[in-house]
Amino acid sequence: MRKSKNTTPERFSEDIELDKSLRPRTFLEFIGQKKIVDNLKVFIEAALIRKESLDHVLLTGPPGLGKTTIAHIIANELSVKIKATSGPVLERPGDLAGVLTNLEENSVLFIDEIHRLSPVVEEYLYSAMEDFKIDILIDSGPNARTVQIKLPRYTLIGATTRAGLLTSPLRERFGIKARLDYYIPEDLLQIILRSAKILNVNIDEDAAFEIARRARGTPRIANRLLKRTRDFADVSGLPKINIEIAKKALESLDVDEYGLDDMDKEILRTIVLKYKGGPVGLNTIAVSVNEDPGTIEEVYEPFLIQQGFLKRTPRGREATDLTLKVLKINRSDLMNGSLWEMDKLF
Ligand SMILES: Nc1ncnc2c1ncn2[C@@H]1O[C@H](COP(=O)(O)OP(=O)(O)O)[C@@H](O)[C@H]1O
Ligand SMILES: [Mg+2]
Repeated sequence: MRKSKNTTPERFSEDIELDKSLRPRTFLEFIGQKKIVDNLKVFIEAALIRKESLDHVLLTGPPGLGKTTIAHIIANELSVKIKATSGPVLERPGDLAGVLTNLEENSVLFIDEIHRLSPVVEEYLYSAMEDFKIDILIDSGPNARTVQIKLPRYTLIGATTRAGLLTSPLRERFGIKARLDYYIPEDLLQIILRSAKILNVNIDEDAAFEIARRARGTPRIANRLLKRTRDFADVSGLPKINIEIAKKALESLDVDEYGLDDMDKEILRTIVLKYKGGPVGLNTIAVSVNEDPGTIEEVYEPFLIQQGFLKRTPRGREATDLTLKVLKINRSDLMNGSLWEMDKLF
């Protein structure tokens, strides 16, 4: 039943290019996530008034919602340098020590995918975060000894799509925690219009809204769809992206009417077709769709729940009436076993 093995939201190399050119540099340019932004502004201003480093910040949430962007904006608003690295890159304590000892006073260290730090490196990070000190082992054999090095004050910004995989000692060392949520179409519309301006693309507002509505609540996807839609307009010789070409492009790109991606659909189809609409346990779903349960819980489910396709009950996950409507299934049909031929839904 599965079409492709890995349907985790991917990063195309084109996305990385796009991310760079379209990334907002200040909070003024950053759209949505109002509560998080408002709070961060206060904490940043307070740090600036006190001439102190900002407390460590943990940013969590699904891919493409702006974690990396916010990390860079924070450094920019603090007028300090940012050094960016990631969990898997910091293999040994020495790698981390090298980075930490080279930081400037009050600057930002950004560790992406912080849930992928190795346990030894993570333990090393504890005192570096709390006491701004690290112990370094010098020499080996009988001459081995540790020296303590004092670090500059700095702000660690950690980002992860998998908050559930963080150990609690690490989590507790962040003074500021923010969980990014999916964007409403109105905010995505503004993001698309802003990107269109930067990319010099002409687009009608209703066409932009059509893309916004179908971008899975995710700015990165919205930007990618804008670019692909422009390709369709260019090839058709249209000077402007209008609603017709936008719809045609989205259809050709197999972009779902509701913004659902392949894995979203697979999850819903599994619950409805294999488990009669649920309730069904997370692990059972995970085995059926061949994906890690944690990824389903932290990356896919939040969107499905937010959009009203899925309910989390004490007995497991349940499909909603909306899901049945989208799948064109009557609740009564769910029970009488007549669904076996409906494998090719959506
Ligand atoms: N609030 C926003 N306003 C405008 N563009 C955004 C916003 N959030 C994200 N983006 C765009 O989406 C892209 C992906 O964001 P990014 O910060 O890389 O996400 P994450 O690190 O959470 O995966 C960025 O390059 C940027 O262009
Ligand atoms: Mg990122």
